[in-house]
Amino acid sequence: MSAEADVSLNDFKGLFSLQGKVAVVTGGSRGLGLNAASGLLQSGCSKVFITSRKAKACEEAIAALNKLGCSGKAISVPADLSKTSEIERLVKEVEKHTDHVDILLANAGATWGAPFDEHPEEAFAKVMDLNVKSVFICIQKFAPLLRKKAKLEDPSRVVVTGSIAGIGVGTIGKNATFGYSASKAAVLHLARNLALELGPQHILVNSIAPGFFPTKMASGLMELSGGVKKLAEANPNKRLGLPEDIAGTVVYLCSRASGHVNGGHIVLDGGSVLSAKL
Ligand SMILES: NC(=O)c1ccc[n+]([C@@H]2O[C@H](COP(=O)([O-])OP(=O)(O)OC[C@H]3O[C@@H](n4cnc5c(N)ncnc54)[C@H](OP(=O)(O)O)[C@@H]3O)[C@@H](O)[C@H]2O)c1
Repeated sequence: MSAEADVSLNDFKGLFSLQGKVAVVTGGSRGLGLNAASGLLQSGCSKVFITSRKAKACEEAIAALNKLGCSGKAISVPADLSKTSEIERLVKEVEKHTDHVDILLANAGATWGAPFDEHPEEAFAKVMDLNVKSVFICIQKFAPLLRKKAKLEDPSRVVVTGSIAGIGVGTIGKNATFGYSASKAAVLHLARNLALELGPQHILVNSIAPGFFPTKMASGLMELSGGVKKLAEANPNKRLGLPEDIAGTVVYLCSRASGHVNGGHIVLDGGSVLSAKL
């Protein structure tokens, strides 16, 4: 092959573009989901569906997103994803606006902190259900819409939000997150399995594994773990996660730039999982 052929990349400027894509973001009303939704919309998505339990929070999120001045539109569809009937209703509501989905960000999640001896069975079950089972059911129920426009040269995408708690060991001791850590390890592995199942159908499945980002979910635990400043100082890159860290990575995983990435996970933690002191 000539040097000229090597340097003439196919539409390099459009490599990260999501022009015209239709996305669904679970847990999109705040935190990491909202950060990602902002990136998806600003990268050209024509429709971004925001879903979480609270209708008001979804409405506020889409109002903020629709003020960004993008050509695409954010649409609110509240649903409690811990119930399969609600996931089915969510799919039906989405179908009222579109005949296909290109991108599913399975991001909604919950956590629980309690010492080993008192770790409640119901909390363990609730966390496993939402963070693992509901992610599976959500991907399963959206698969028909994800298949609609999925092509070899333009695959649909599923991005699963895991955590570094599912790679290293999460919090132990007084605020131990046994169920959460187990659920995040499970969902990262679920995504690898789904990558092999859905890859041949031109649906790529990848995960992100964030470290600490100061969101509603993380703020309590971050306070109990020494606070934002101390945690940032302890991180190898001397800071915590920022909204654009999530937005940039999710956009990459949904774009042509990641067209050969399937069954992978991207760790977004400034190196913290590698630096755990034994
Ligand atoms: N922040 C971090 O440091 C961090 C680190 C690693 C991984 N993560 C993961 O990132 C994801 C997002 O977390 P976050 O930090 O952005 O937390 P967050 O700000 O608390 O957001 C959680 C989102 O999930 C929604 N949600 C919760 N239960 C739901 C249910 N049953 N059905 C539908 N939606 C539900 C919430 O909205 P409603 O309350 O309205 O339902 C909200 O939109 C989670 O999977 C979390 O495990 C976060």
